[in-house]
Amino acid sequence: MDNSSSYNSDIYDEKITSVLPYYREYHTQVIDLVRNMGMNSPEWLDTGCGTGTLALRALSEMPGIRFTLADPSENMLDEAKAKLDGRDIRYVNAPSDKLPFIAEFDIITAIQSHHYYDINGRKQAVKRCFDALKKGGVFVTFENIRMSSDISDAIAVTRWKTYQKEHGRSPEDVEAHIARRGTVMFPITIEEHLDMLKKCGFATADILWTSYLQAGFWAVK
Ligand SMILES: C[S@@+](CC[C@H](N)C(=O)[O-])C[C@H]1O[C@@H](n2cnc3c(N)ncnc32)[C@H](O)[C@@H]1O
Repeated sequence: MDNSSSYNSDIYDEKITSVLPYYREYHTQVIDLVRNMGMNSPEWLDTGCGTGTLALRALSEMPGIRFTLADPSENMLDEAKAKLDGRDIRYVNAPSDKLPFIAEFDIITAIQSHHYYDINGRKQAVKRCFDALKKGGVFVTFENIRMSSDISDAIAVTRWKTYQKEHGRSPEDVEAHIARRGTVMFPITIEEHLDMLKKCGFATADILWTSYLQAGFWAVK
C-alpha cells in the first residue's frame, strides 16, 4: 500500500465508498459548517488530505479559500496535485504530529486521518493542529470510532461489515479490514474524543455528525 488507508492512492476515490458509509456526507458537513462561520478568504489546512477531494469541493463553493494540503503519503499528494492542477495551493508532505505551523490557519480539517494514531500520538497530532490555528479558528475532524460498550461495539461492527459486503467487498477483505481495528487503527469513543479536544485547549468541543462507526467533531480555539 502507498498510504495507510484501505486502498492505493490511484483507486482510492473509486473504492472508498465501499468501505465508508456516507463518505461524501463528511465533506458536505464540513463545508456546510464552514460556510456558516462567515469567514472571509480563510486560510484552510486539510491534514491527511488524501486525494484532495474535500479541497476541490470546498473551492467550487467558496473560491476565496487559501488551501494548504498535508499528507504523509507522497502518492496521495500526487493524486491531489493532479486533481487540483492549476490552483494556487501549498502542499506539505508530513503527518499531523509533525506539522510545523503556529497560529496560521482559520480552519483545520482532519478527515479520517487521525485514527491511525494510538492515544498519545493522537493527542500530539491534535495539539499540533491546535497550535497551528489562529484564536477563534475551527478544527473539524471525522474519525472511525468505538462504541461506548463492547455490546454496542460488536453490533456496530456487524452493521459495518454488512455495509461493506453489500457494497462489493469480499468477506475476506471485510474481515481483514475490521482486523485493523486495534492493530492499524485505534478508534476511541465519542466521549473520549470530546474529552481529548477539551484537554488539548479548545474552548468548545461538539459532535458534528455520526452514523455507523464514524463521527465528526468540531472544536473552536
Ligand atoms: C482514509 S484516507 C482520508 C483521505 C481524505 N481526508 C478524504 O477525506 O478522503 C486517510 C489519509 O490519512 C493519511 N494519513 C495517514 N497517517 C496520517 C497521519 N499520521 N497524519 C496525517 N495524515 C495521515 C493517509 O496518507 C491518507 O491520505
